[in-house]
Amino acid sequence: MSSDLPTLRWGTVATGLISSWFVQDLLLSRPNAEATHVIRAVGASSIDKARAFADKYLTGQSVSAYGSYAHVYQDPAVDIVYIGTPHAFHRQNCLDSIAHGKHVLCEKPFALNAREAREVFDAARAKGVFVMEAMWTRFFPLVRTLQRLVDIEWAIGDVRRVFCDFAMDMKLASLGPDSRLRNRALGAGTLLDVGIYSLTWGLLALEPEVGEQAERPSIVAPQSLSEGIDVATCMILQYADGRQGVLTSAAFTKTPAAFCRIEGTGGVIVVEGFTASVPASSTVRRPKAPGSAEMQHDKYEFERPGKGFYWAADAVAQSIAAGKTESDIMPWAETLRVLEMLDEVRRLGGASFPQDAS
Ligand SMILES: NC(=O)c1ccc[n+]([C@@H]2O[C@H](COP(=O)([O-])OP(=O)(O)OC[C@H]3O[C@@H](n4cnc5c(N)ncnc54)[C@H](OP(=O)(O)O)[C@@H]3O)[C@@H](O)[C@H]2O)c1
Repeated sequence: MSSDLPTLRWGTVATGLISSWFVQDLLLSRPNAEATHVIRAVGASSIDKARAFADKYLTGQSVSAYGSYAHVYQDPAVDIVYIGTPHAFHRQNCLDSIAHGKHVLCEKPFALNAREAREVFDAARAKGVFVMEAMWTRFFPLVRTLQRLVDIEWAIGDVRRVFCDFAMDMKLASLGPDSRLRNRALGAGTLLDVGIYSLTWGLLALEPEVGEQAERPSIVAPQSLSEGIDVATCMILQYADGRQGVLTSAAFTKTPAAFCRIEGTGGVIVVEGFTASVPASSTVRRPKAPGSAEMQHDKYEFERPGKGFYWAADAVAQSIAAGKTESDIMPWAETLRVLEMLDEVRRLGGASFPQDAS
């Protein structure tokens, strides 16, 4: 491991599923790592949960286990807080971290709505700390390569349409009323849980820019609601020049492996993976020569030990080492643009959260 790599000292908030995936990935030994990650603190709703998490996932780390999140924010051994609570708590967890001068990597969706996100970014700006939404998929080498193929090498010509689906059987009927997947006050619904990935694929395939430079397509968006939460959402993005994105999510079935199709005037790209959050391969299908009926298929695959959260974490470490408060790949304005679109989808489709009114 090169000593030139930046080192980031993490504290994690919450000990649920995503936190366990994240810390295991951070501690993987990787030949191509671009940062060194150490975990110095874990905070949970009880000391027993924090200790159990540390014992299970953080052996060999010099880590403090705390029975509250506040102790993580206060710990001087922590540079950055990773937030893995349900969506509804992201705003407060971020604000508390920032108030203690900590950098933040917060799970997706960054907040329940754009208003909450603006409040967090205002606080981060005032404090001068780094903050990023953990939209990890954007940092996969597969996605970076695909963007190069589409935007720079023009591999499929002019992109005109993108289809993407993220559906999974959430077994909602079997879940209790306090589950984050069923409880509106916790941000339940497919849109914020998985539809955000479908929207992300549409945006990154249809547009080369992010954030302030990016476009604002118009949106059509029916939603199927059950007990007030969306169990299926369809977003159609309509760009002024005719480009379209058909981007969907659902809670009762599993999307087949080929979850995304990007159609251009000169070819098609199909992206496959277990889900839209974890792309495994992409195949470019285009004529062998201009005008030829003979097609060539080029498949792109990348080594991915563990889950792949380290690519985003490395990028965070590099940004902080460079003195930045925002990521170039997932800047604040892109998080806001996505949340504004999700707000619009919910306005059109009918899903709402109690927090929208406050
Ligand atoms: N990037 C990805 O691929 C991915 C995948 C799954 C989830 N996520 C995101 O990660 C976040 C957490 O999801 P998860 O699947 O890890 O959830 P989870 O397994 O239910 O864990 C959530 C944790 O948050 C804490 N928490 C605090 N208040 C809570 C409350 N009132 N109800 C439930 N939990 C509460 C609990 O930790 P303590 O008791 O330890 O404090 C709990 O273990 C969500 O925002 C989700 O969108 C991202």
